[in-house]
Amino acid sequence: MRMTVIGTGYLGAVHAAAMAELGHDVLGIDADVAKIEALAAGRAPFFEPGLPELLIRNVEAGRLTFSTSLKEAADFADIHFICVGTPQKPGSHAADMVFVDAVATGLAQYLTRPCLIVGKSTVPVGTAARLADLIADIAPIGVQAKVAWNPEFLREGFAVEDTLRPDRIVAGTSSAEADEIIRAVYAPILATGIPYITTDAATAELVKVSANAFLATKISFINAIAEVCDAAGADILTLADALGHDVRIGRKFLSPGLGFGGGCLGKDIRAFQARADELGVGKALSFLDDIDEINTNGRLRVVELARTMLDGSLAGKRVTVLGAAFKPNSDDVRDSPSLAVAHRLHEEGAIVTVHDPEAVANAQRAYPQLGFSTNLDVAFDGAELTLHLTEWDDYRQLDPRSVLDRVANPLLIDARHTLNPGLWRDVGWTVRAMGRPGLASVPAAAMSSAL
Ligand code: UDX
Repeated sequence: MRMTVIGTGYLGAVHAAAMAELGHDVLGIDADVAKIEALAAGRAPFFEPGLPELLIRNVEAGRLTFSTSLKEAADFADIHFICVGTPQKPGSHAADMVFVDAVATGLAQYLTRPCLIVGKSTVPVGTAARLADLIADIAPIGVQAKVAWNPEFLREGFAVEDTLRPDRIVAGTSSAEADEIIRAVYAPILATGIPYITTDAATAELVKVSANAFLATKISFINAIAEVCDAAGADILTLADALGHDVRIGRKFLSPGLGFGGGCLGKDIRAFQARADELGVGKALSFLDDIDEINTNGRLRVVELARTMLDGSLAGKRVTVLGAAFKPNSDDVRDSPSLAVAHRLHEEGAIVTVHDPEAVANAQRAYPQLGFSTNLDVAFDGAELTLHLTEWDDYRQLDPRSVLDRVANPLLIDARHTLNPGLWRDVGWTVRAMGRPGLASVPAAAMSSAL
């Protein structure tokens, strides 16, 4: 089948490459010329495991091409996926729909044949219906330009896997014809038995934001309990493991730590609340404000712990931050919890050096006032406190003895609970972790099975 994918960020670039991998002829569209040039040359414009291989294979096979022209998109195919971003609107909690609307209106003017526009971006409920009217008004083909919603649930770092082997595919459309087209697009995936849920567009839009709200709630829940563990002398990691054995609860997304960040969960729960307010049911989702606040407070609690460990003042203290990306296996620093902490430490006078295996360039652009190092050993030089804030495997593999001579003080905060405190303590480090007040007395052998 022929199709276009409009917007080639983390979602669209992977979707375009994955659709080509399924055998479709795909034209990827983006307004960013540099991004399109990189993709057309088979280069991923961001770090995403598995994407470079997928791009090269499909660009070379001629199934995947790129352009900046919406006119070309309209000429190329009659199925158009919209994958542009819906960031938080400046000065508001609502989603900023400027990119989605610009693509819809920009494309509509060239639509002269019956076609299907399939939105994948995370949007406020009601968007598909609104866009259908907008497009019908502008498009020469009128109402024969149909709109459906097919939300995407991919996680950065596992985007290729999640796109080609998703947990489910949700198609929101009231048109049997549109439903058939979407089924045909995903036919090779559906043939493996992946659940396919057809529903109306509003339900499909809500599935996505509800999923993200639920995931954010799970994370903030366990982090709230971690705070109670600190006060009560209990251990959050053991507690999370014990909870997770209950299949009704499950261990996934119950990892305590520095909380959620990235381009989705935070802005999506805010936009969901804002949309519920507009619909007159804001009270039903008011708990999402607490979820957000617990998450933000978690970052402040790490700064407080750092201050306590440095005898009450951060001013002039050299601190090393391990991790800049919002999560491992990504170079995405949008709303990165680790950089928020690093920035706060800097504001309070600390001399901060941030290390990350992949995200230093992006982090440096966002926070030029911080110090950075791409050399893990050098990053430790002179540190009076080390904070482990993004759980890259590189840090778990690190021999704590090898950097002991480099630091000024062997003090460590493991805010992600993925380092083995026993290993670090055994060679002389003092290790602290939120929600684990008894850490000093926990033998290495008793480490969580989740590690
Ligand atoms: C998320 C959703 O998972 C995905 O379905 C949606 O399409 C987009 O938003 P992503 O932002 O890529 O994906 O990251 P995810 O793996 O979900 O992690 C989000 C954040 O939560 C990260 O900062 C991560 O460190 C944090 N997290 C995750 C926890 O703090 N604890 C957990 O147990 C799990």
